[in-house]
Amino acid sequence: MILNKNKHYTATVEKVLPFGNGALTLEGKTILVPNVLVGEVIRFKLIRLEKKKGIGKCIKIIKEAPERVKAPCVIASRCGGCQIQHLSIDGQLARKLNLLKEQLPKDTAIEIIKSENETHYRNKIQLSFQNNKDGFVCGLNKTNSNEVIDMKSCLIVNENINEVLVSLREWMSTLPSSTPLAHLVIRHSNKNEIMVGLIVSSSTFREKNSFVSAIKTNANVKSILLNINPTSNETILGPTTNLLYGKETISDTCLGLYYPISLNTFVQNNPVMTETIYTYVGELIKPLKPTLVWDLYCGIGILTQYLAKFSTTTLGVELVKESIKNATLSSKDNECKNVSFVSQDVKEFLGQTQDTPQVVVLDPPRKGCDKDVLASLIEKKIDTIVYISCSPQSLGRDSKIIIESGYTIESVKAFDCFTHTIHVETVVCFKLAS
Ligand SMILES: C[S@@+](CC[C@H](N)C(=O)[O-])C[C@H]1O[C@@H](n2cnc3c(N)ncnc32)[C@H](O)[C@@H]1O
Repeated sequence: MILNKNKHYTATVEKVLPFGNGALTLEGKTILVPNVLVGEVIRFKLIRLEKKKGIGKCIKIIKEAPERVKAPCVIASRCGGCQIQHLSIDGQLARKLNLLKEQLPKDTAIEIIKSENETHYRNKIQLSFQNNKDGFVCGLNKTNSNEVIDMKSCLIVNENINEVLVSLREWMSTLPSSTPLAHLVIRHSNKNEIMVGLIVSSSTFREKNSFVSAIKTNANVKSILLNINPTSNETILGPTTNLLYGKETISDTCLGLYYPISLNTFVQNNPVMTETIYTYVGELIKPLKPTLVWDLYCGIGILTQYLAKFSTTTLGVELVKESIKNATLSSKDNECKNVSFVSQDVKEFLGQTQDTPQVVVLDPPRKGCDKDVLASLIEKKIDTIVYISCSPQSLGRDSKIIIESGYTIESVKAFDCFTHTIHVETVVCFKLAS
């Protein structure tokens, strides 16, 4: 059989890849199809064909997998935000557990903790605009495409964020097509404060006043910012941000610790599960009674401050200056006296410091730790390394290096902070073998 683009084929899904696409083999080519499950017999349209692989779009599921459910969100099969809404919650947890088992040493005991909220758990949404023939749309990119899927509301973000989307859409419908809209960021705090950041691609944006009037009708909106990003690369925020309304930051709390949220600082997305994870990390560290704990990749330093309850001193290290500024401010407000913060690349910091803590907490971005970072920590013979990871793949790679250097895994706990998506947060506690 010769495969042709735009033709329909029937096949069985062989596996689901870590990033959510189903994979099947046809005529020696791997065809990726989103929104399907292992064992399902599907009819699909071949929408892209390359030498060794292709992309298909599922037209019909001829035989459904037992764990298939009706996706609760109407745009789930097109929007790239949630990749596995069509999988039951138990199926999602089993899938995440299996991904971790594939990455960590055989027979490692892994527990996975269910999310306390399966919907409306996120405190942040980041959307893109696109100018189509019928006017502007605002949403997330379609799976495997640059097309923006128009979003009226989102199943996994806080309901207060969805209310702002209603006002935004009304405003959007009044705009001339030349308006240089690029992205929108909305953040919510547990004090019910909302920050709205509009990112435009040019300083010629003239609709500032109408934007503010439309958005501030929502009483929870306490901060409206305008960011200008003339580049079309993958970075959402440009270098210039101007305050249009209210205050520069909104306030939040985690485990009783106050912190400010800025437009450009990293904050954990699922606040309820963040408290569960931080509490667990505290339980791992408390019995060790350390004198010094390093919290590397500390972001806004709330975990650093929480861990200061269990250590004589803690030090947080983070690249983004604004995050360290916020960490320093909040540690004063929280009267947390035994913490300090350094704004530096973790690799550089490790290359310069002479200190050796008993415990290091690592929470790197999705790509994991630089090899030199792991080498420096291994050389220092740190007793306990607590690795918090949002990527089973980079966790697997880094764990192998840590284990080969004389550490053993004491415990692994995963947390389903990102229900309906492929993502999972995992805490691994490594101990230096004596
Ligand atoms: C997954 S976040 C963790 C933040 C924090 N631990 C928390 O719980 O909110 C990763 C953080 O690493 C920071 N980061 C990324 N690369 C870095 C580097 N090379 N050196 C220091 N910090 C870095 C990012 O800015 C981000 O704040």
